[in-house]
Amino acid sequence: MYTLLLVDDDADVLATLTRSFRKGYKTLSASGGEQALEIINSQPVDLIICDQRMPGIGGVEVLTHASNVQPQAIRILLTGYTDVESLLACVNDAHIYKYVTKPWVPDDLNFTVVRALEALNLQRQLDEARTQLESAYQESVVMLCLAAEGKDQDTASHLHRVQHYTQALAMAVGIDEKEAAHMGLMSMLHDIGKLATPDAILKKPGKLTDEEWVVMREHPIAGVKILGNNPFYEVAREISAGHHENFDGTGYPNKLKSEEIPLSARIVKLADVFDALTTKRPYKEPWSMEDALENIELNSIGMFDPKLVAVFKELFEDGTLVRIQTTYSN
Ligand SMILES: [Fe+2]
Ligand SMILES: [Fe+2]
Repeated sequence: MYTLLLVDDDADVLATLTRSFRKGYKTLSASGGEQALEIINSQPVDLIICDQRMPGIGGVEVLTHASNVQPQAIRILLTGYTDVESLLACVNDAHIYKYVTKPWVPDDLNFTVVRALEALNLQRQLDEARTQLESAYQESVVMLCLAAEGKDQDTASHLHRVQHYTQALAMAVGIDEKEAAHMGLMSMLHDIGKLATPDAILKKPGKLTDEEWVVMREHPIAGVKILGNNPFYEVAREISAGHHENFDGTGYPNKLKSEEIPLSARIVKLADVFDALTTKRPYKEPWSMEDALENIELNSIGMFDPKLVAVFKELFEDGTLVRIQTTYSN
């Protein structure tokens, strides 16, 4: 059952409103702006019908507040007179669904409410479908990575750490939360191209020959091919193609330099190498984060974007990196 909040300082009007929506809805009523704000702050409502002119806190203010606190709730303004300026303010600030002039035709207002709630319901179904789709594609990315992982020494926890180091670093350099989370997810695909690398090379215990290195170095481009051309995987393609490029132009496959390398790839390269250094691998013991950062700073000049290294160090200093490593340890 939908919850309607009815707001009017005129007791008669409020009673009329309550009467007309008693059937089929749960109604809450407020006899002024302050009471309305209290209700909006304390419980979810689906639709608000609010008088414009009230002593103290007026209708525009109530609905503007509602649009911030409960943006999903539909907002209808009741107005006793047509003051174009305040109506405009209401449309612009409170993003109202509709305004209804007093006195209103009961059937019209009923109809407006029914239509508005239908739209709300549709929106909710859409949101739910989108959430389901989003979690399905996120899971499919992880599944794909785990399938590929069987071929390589990388573990699922390595991929998750790289994901979260990437996300944290992206946010620290000013990328918005949603985009940073997407970049984190896409970072898991950085070595997906190794699916195309023969096991004899990938799992060779000894050193690779020059010819074998040539094949090994094909994995960034092989990854781009595997990732197809759907726009959704654009960042993943950037990361796959660019995660072995060096900032000074000595990397592969395209010898890109500094800002020619997409930011996402520069971030993931740092996250990936840092994680490789700080975790145990069959051929080495884990390094401390301090040692890893020092090595990255001193011995790997030219590989990484120095600005990113500086921000990454701050993430170490404020405890973010340790927190991620602890959360996603083997
Ligand atoms: Fe790689
Ligand atoms: Fe990796």
